[in-house]
Amino acid sequence: MSSLDSSFVKNSSWKPDLFKGKVVFVTGGAGTICRVQTEALVLLGANAAIIGRNQEKTAKAAQEMSQLRSDAKVIGLGNVDVRDVQSLVKAVDETVKQLGRIDFVIAGAAGNFLSDFNHLSSNAFKSVISIDLLGSFNTVKATFEQLRKNKGAIIFVSATLHYYGVPMQSHVGAAKAGVDALSNALAVELGPLGIRSNCIAPGAIAGTEGMDRLAPPEQRKSIISKTPLQRYGSTRDIAEATVYLFSPASSFVTGTVQIVDGGLWHLGGMMGDFYPNVIISAGEDDPKL
Ligand code: COA
Repeated sequence: MSSLDSSFVKNSSWKPDLFKGKVVFVTGGAGTICRVQTEALVLLGANAAIIGRNQEKTAKAAQEMSQLRSDAKVIGLGNVDVRDVQSLVKAVDETVKQLGRIDFVIAGAAGNFLSDFNHLSSNAFKSVISIDLLGSFNTVKATFEQLRKNKGAIIFVSATLHYYGVPMQSHVGAAKAGVDALSNALAVELGPLGIRSNCIAPGAIAGTEGMDRLAPPEQRKSIISKTPLQRYGSTRDIAEATVYLFSPASSFVTGTVQIVDGGLWHLGGMMGDFYPNVIISAGEDDPKL
């Protein structure tokens, strides 16, 4: 079910039809955060193509999202793995065929799990780097012609994990540091072509797969108390930042990271209370290669 509805337009700071005639291409668009980013854009007039590995989940999300606006077109392209640039090229071709163009790209597909270094195999590290970093590169690669033609904008979904050392997250921290570096380089290289590139770094966002998978229930209260704004983020908070970064209001903004975390990273809030005991005991096992 969609998280946003027409009340988003009525009560929001944005004008209806802000994105009329625009098309957004979103990898991971059926997942919690990227789906709500897309919903906001659709409610404000955009059409969308959401891309995912799971055919059924992607098609269902697209069908539900196309109900958000009377003339909305949302297509779901499943069986696409961002690690495979050719499958993305096909998805781009299909999007242009069905929706006519691509103006905005959200590189949101990501993989994550908790693992200490000793249990993280070389292949596990490579899987996350391949999905998060190479997948982000491939997404821009495949959409580049459209971005160039339409003087488009890119948002990479990053994180705050690499601003300090977060245990059990070396793979994701390394991948997201790469994503930030990629975005900065693209901002500089593609700026003269009229293309903007920015990152959004979500903090602890309630109701997401990431929080469900990564934050054990006993840690959740302490995350709130360590967040300067004293609450979890919502997917709508990420959607609002997305609207800003694609809107004309940010037409002079490129090469930035918009952190949406209530100030959490300043206090190292994602650092679990399990540290260092769990690491010491995990380090006693035989290493996994
Ligand atoms: N701890 C340690 N290693 C793990 C792991 C865990 N919890 N989960 C997977 N791995 C390892 C696997 O053991 C494998 O390594 P090996 O060959 O040395 O045994 C490697 O990661 C690849 O696993 P596989 O399941 O084959 O990869 P995949 O490409 O199908 O899946 C993942 C990619 C691993 C990132 C998977 O978690 C995924 O698909 N996630 C997508 C959704 C998601 O993570 N959402 C969260 C967003 S915050």
